[in-house]
Amino acid sequence: MRKILVIHGPNLNLLGTREVDVYGSVTIGEINKDLKKHAKARKVALEIVQFNHEGDIVEKVGSASGKFDAILINPAAYTHTSVAIRDAISAVSIPTVEVHLSNIYAREEFRHTSLIAPVARGQVSGFGKMSYILGLEAAISMIGK
Ligand code: DQA
Repeated sequence: MRKILVIHGPNLNLLGTREVDVYGSVTIGEINKDLKKHAKARKVALEIVQFNHEGDIVEKVGSASGKFDAILINPAAYTHTSVAIRDAISAVSIPTVEVHLSNIYAREEFRHTSLIAPVARGQVSGFGKMSYILGLEAAISMIGK
């Protein structure tokens, strides 16, 4: 069975109470439940992790070779700052889909730049928790079954 690594970046553990006007009231638990349900129906396996520290994400991505067929990542604030996460994704050559709950291009200017986008196969941004499902579907179609 194909295996996909799902990484939630910093502060996404606070979803549900964090900036509800921007992210809605969905919790990370609800997102993960939906992802697992969708993955089961599509017969792919998921490992889902959340990290607040950049280095933890770098290590997880860096050790993913041979273990995962694709990566689905919401790098959260590190989207806009992390050369280290970008380099890790580039280094492992595992097809990666970048997702965001909010439309980062409709927000503050500093969010308009993603350092991750050039090393991702594609990006889904702005559809709330649906971004993750669409991103998962994109990852599945990239790797086949
Ligand atoms: C986010 C967008 C980022 O700009 C922000 O720092 C986040 C969440 C999103 O999912 O919309 O933490 O990645």
